Amino acid sequence: MNQETLNLNRSSFGNPQNEGKAISKEEALTLLDEWVKNEKLKVHMLQVGHLMKTYAHSKNYPDEVQHLWYLAGLLHDADWDQWPDQHCKKIIEELESRNLDPGMIRAIASHGPRYFGVEPESEMDKMLYAFDELSGFVHAYSLMRPTGYAGMEVKGVKKRLKDKTFAAQVSREDIQDASQRAGIPVEDLIQFVITHQITALE
Ligand SMILES: [Fe+2]
Ligand SMILES: [Fe+2]
Repeated sequence: MNQETLNLNRSSFGNPQNEGKAISKEEALTLLDEWVKNEKLKVHMLQVGHLMKTYAHSKNYPDEVQHLWYLAGLLHDADWDQWPDQHCKKIIEELESRNLDPGMIRAIASHGPRYFGVEPESEMDKMLYAFDELSGFVHAYSLMRPTGYAGMEVKGVKKRLKDKTFAAQVSREDIQDASQRAGIPVEDLIQFVITHQITALE
């Protein structure tokens, strides 16, 4: 992945008039089915969608807000499977053409500041960035454990993070950076992921 070519060169996303506008879970899953053929990637997006929703729920945000958090997580990598060189430009333009909530679109645009050149600003932006890599990392760890998620502990995940050969494609730097920006210790983020991650297509 080339860092410069994915730069979105934009700082504003969606239309403020569309604040609060969402598609249903069913519509979002249909989009996902159409765009994403890779089952592993689909699992990743379902996992991040679920973590985002659960986090918003833990903050007692209204159902409509929880749903927007869910959509941001669910759709953040929707174009990665078929159009990796247009990631995440294509999904952003799709959601803009559907006149959806600008905050949700912005969260997707800022889920990789090093690549897309968009700084995470809102809490939704920051949490999507924080959950993205960590969710994938914890899942990779679960797959190598005989008991999967059962009995998984934060210290086991931290040990794997220090082992640079394990899931080497996961950027430890981004995990640290995201935790700092979110103002949440990486240990707490790991614990949240262990507790709430879904393991199958739900
Ligand atoms: Fe991504
Ligand atoms: Fe992702």
